[in-house]
Amino acid sequence: MRDDYITFISDIKKRTGIDLALYKEKQMKRRLTTLRDKRGFANFNDYYKALIQDEQLYFEFLDRMTINVSEFYRNFNRWETFRTKVLPTLMEGNDRLKVWSAACSTGEEPYTIAMILSDYFPLEEITVHATDIDELAIQRAMEGVYPERSLKEVPRDKKEKYFHKKGNFYSLSDEIKRCVQFSKHNLLADRYRSSYDLIVCRNVLIYFTEDAKNQVYDWFSQSLVEGGVLFVGSTEQIFNPQSFNFEVAETFFYEKQ
Ligand SMILES: C[S@@+](CC[C@H](N)C(=O)[O-])C[C@H]1O[C@@H](n2cnc3c(N)ncnc32)[C@H](O)[C@@H]1O
Repeated sequence: MRDDYITFISDIKKRTGIDLALYKEKQMKRRLTTLRDKRGFANFNDYYKALIQDEQLYFEFLDRMTINVSEFYRNFNRWETFRTKVLPTLMEGNDRLKVWSAACSTGEEPYTIAMILSDYFPLEEITVHATDIDELAIQRAMEGVYPERSLKEVPRDKKEKYFHKKGNFYSLSDEIKRCVQFSKHNLLADRYRSSYDLIVCRNVLIYFTEDAKNQVYDWFSQSLVEGGVLFVGSTEQIFNPQSFNFEVAETFFYEKQ
């Protein structure tokens, strides 16, 4: 049975470049087995043969492996720490910040960053690079339309200024949308750009194996300028930050040395 899954991993990698072996096996296998069973395939070999011929099955598989849950100002207090402590230090002697929201899902995180930066910079001067492995999530991010539950942590002034209610949904204003540039990027395979002042990468590393996570921390470190900051998610604290040239700036924030 395990061989069947291992062969599936290798077929998917050859075909799509996505290496499922770098994700925690137990979790990933359970998620994909449930989906496979739901679609009526007895083994991963049959499931693979079907999904390479049926785009809908393929996108459903991608959707299941990528867990896109997000919201604006997720863990509000951390964004307050970012706004009041981390950002002012980053801005010292720096009138334009290079920012990357990695694994941005449907856009709530990079748009949150743009709204926070708008307190300090004119909107035309803000650019946040935002990337994800999932093209459908990126498409939704670019549309910028969200259900009410995604906005529950948005401060009132920002909600009034940057969102427009349409039925049960909220559309984000074009002026904030223009601050964010989206593209597809696989954190485990693609080249990283350099010279970032800030990298925000939250709630994705928990799905990776220890080795893969350490590799990604190392690449993030190389992508940051000296004094640049990496902002990670709840269960993604780095055990040995010094081995990646990081020092703890605040809980969940690491400064590159
Ligand atoms: C739970 S969401 C996190 C969204 C946002 N960062 C947040 O904290 O609210 C995880 C995202 O990681 C993306 N992802 C999974 N594997 C990835 C990879 N190898 N490279 C880039 N993104 C990946 C998924 O597509 C998904 O959108």
